[in-house]
Amino acid sequence: MKLLVLGAGGRLGAALLREYRSKFDVAGFNHTQLDLSDFGAVREKLRNTSFNILINAAGFTKVDLCETEPDRAFLINAQAPHVLTEICEEKNARLIHFSTDYVFDGDKHEPYTEEDQACPISVYGESKLAGENNVLAAKRQNLVVRVSWVFGPDRPSFIDAMIQQAQENQEVDAVADKHSTPTYTLDIAAMLPRFFDENVSGGILHFANAGQCSWQQYAQWAVDCCRDAGFPLKAKTIGETKLRDMANWIARRPVYSVLSTSKYTKLTGVSPRTWREAVSDYITRFYPKK
Ligand SMILES: NC(=O)c1ccc[n+]([C@@H]2O[C@H](COP(=O)([O-])OP(=O)(O)OC[C@H]3O[C@@H](n4cnc5c(N)ncnc54)[C@H](OP(=O)(O)O)[C@@H]3O)[C@@H](O)[C@H]2O)c1
Repeated sequence: MKLLVLGAGGRLGAALLREYRSKFDVAGFNHTQLDLSDFGAVREKLRNTSFNILINAAGFTKVDLCETEPDRAFLINAQAPHVLTEICEEKNARLIHFSTDYVFDGDKHEPYTEEDQACPISVYGESKLAGENNVLAAKRQNLVVRVSWVFGPDRPSFIDAMIQQAQENQEVDAVADKHSTPTYTLDIAAMLPRFFDENVSGGILHFANAGQCSWQQYAQWAVDCCRDAGFPLKAKTIGETKLRDMANWIARRPVYSVLSTSKYTKLTGVSPRTWREAVSDYITRFYPKK
């Protein structure tokens, strides 16, 4: 089995590449090595690279920028995955493509399943949904893996920004009326190989750590874990703000986008660990060294 990871310089792609190096025959291309918006270069480079599983962790992930640059969003998040499916069909390879909880509108009050209708409310979400559809329309049994609130050691995310703010200030606030589930890149890396088998059917799968929270609860737990890990912070308590206070956001975001992982558990017999355990593990392993 030969794996190729695209987006290998990103938060998720870098984690996958590192975690798989000791277990699989794996290579990766980062943005500089392969620009997904240059379809000619993509075709040429991938036709000359040997793989039977292509993992696409690359994407135009800046949610607000997608609103102002919709052509770029659709080029990278929707049209490029279509080109990847064509190349995979030629090479008889399987495509595993990452997508997002932002394909949902957030009107639901319980976790979204793979059967729920996607109805994005942002250009980012629309472009990612178009990418999903392109990947699933191919003849091959391709897989779309939706993840939410991704964090990990390879690129800072919300949790790292909150910890930094709490290091520098005594008062820190976070949004308390938007809910989803933080998902650890190292846990995604551990969950994915169960689907490398050729005989596993394709379709959509939701990966997330277990449980749900607001950004305020997520940040508060991160601060609590830092305290327990002996990593000193000025702020001890994270205050609450409202979504409507986020005046500088351009894109609309779903207020509730928890992904149900019951399909994953049904297929594998395994339940993901809770987001609290995952955050605690991340901070214990990586923060005291920072
Ligand atoms: N982060 C989250 O909270 C989150 C939540 C839900 C779903 N997801 C999904 O998870 C996947 C991985 O996201 P991530 O968190 O790892 O995001 P990320 O750190 O932004 O990684 C995306 C990677 O794609 C690269 N990229 C952007 N434009 C490209 C292009 N034209 N050609 C080649 N590479 C390009 C980026 O490179 P540059 O940095 O150089 O532009 C970056 O390395 C994406 O599909 C995303 O939609 C993420």
